Amino acid sequence: SYILYHDQIIKDGSIPVDPQDRGYLFGDGIYEVVFVYDKKPFAFKEHFARFEQSAKKLELTMPYDVSTFKKLTDELISKNNIENGMVYIQMTRGVAPRNHLYERNMQSVVTGFAKSVSLENIAESQASGISTYLTEDIRWLRCDIKSLNLLGNVMAKRKAADFDCQEAIQHRDGTVTEGSSSNVFIVKNGTLKTHPSTNLILNGITRQIVIKLAQQNGISVLEEAFSVDDLLHADEVFITSTTMEVTPVTKLVGSESQSYNIGPVTLKLQDDFKKQII
Ligand code: PDD
Repeated sequence: SYILYHDQIIKDGSIPVDPQDRGYLFGDGIYEVVFVYDKKPFAFKEHFARFEQSAKKLELTMPYDVSTFKKLTDELISKNNIENGMVYIQMTRGVAPRNHLYERNMQSVVTGFAKSVSLENIAESQASGISTYLTEDIRWLRCDIKSLNLLGNVMAKRKAADFDCQEAIQHRDGTVTEGSSSNVFIVKNGTLKTHPSTNLILNGITRQIVIKLAQQNGISVLEEAFSVDDLLHADEVFITSTTMEVTPVTKLVGSESQSYNIGPVTLKLQDDFKKQII
């Protein structure tokens, strides 16, 4: 396969990995995951805008402009013959002798790869719904940054899998924040609710598209914090992400448990989202 290294697409296996890269030492870097439908990156502009924002919040240097990143993304897709799949792009602060204190304006290190994904697998969980595991949100207070520091997320995902769940739903002191790698929506009496875009969640691109689609359909959307209790009494629950699109939640386990039906609002938004990508 072919990977991205700085601004070159090169054969995998030939990339030198520096142990003093701050990405390895401190998780000092950011990333984006862009989906590929029919050989084209989906919502690239939006993903790139968030990448730029993450870089700015951490004072990382952006070495290339949007057109270079787009060109490299397209090349990753074509060289790897990706029909449907995903592109991962990462940028670390760069290489320097280990020191917590970072210098500004370092030479960032950009890497990336592409992977084929079976749309049938996604369609399956979208048709049947997924089980989720309710767990405490133990992450830091800058979840708005798409940083490489994902230990809280990966611990939540592992715990979820141990309980035969495909995703974790995290709460902070009883307020539902988001999944381990997705945003969480509930429907109550026809109204959609999701955590507001604050420092406590990643403002998902899929989340933003779904909110817009709901509004276009006259479904009222409240970007408001809701409680675990609200989650338990919801009519419908679904998660959104680049790799899961709109996926219904049919079960919640953990300190609380509940079952949900796949409802009309979820199905409508799932359907409308599909229309965006074709
Ligand atoms: N994760 N919240 C978290 C913590 C995430 O990691 C993600 C995405 C989302 C959804 O964002 P978007 O709709 O822009 O994908 C929300 C990606 C897919 C990942 O880490 O693989």
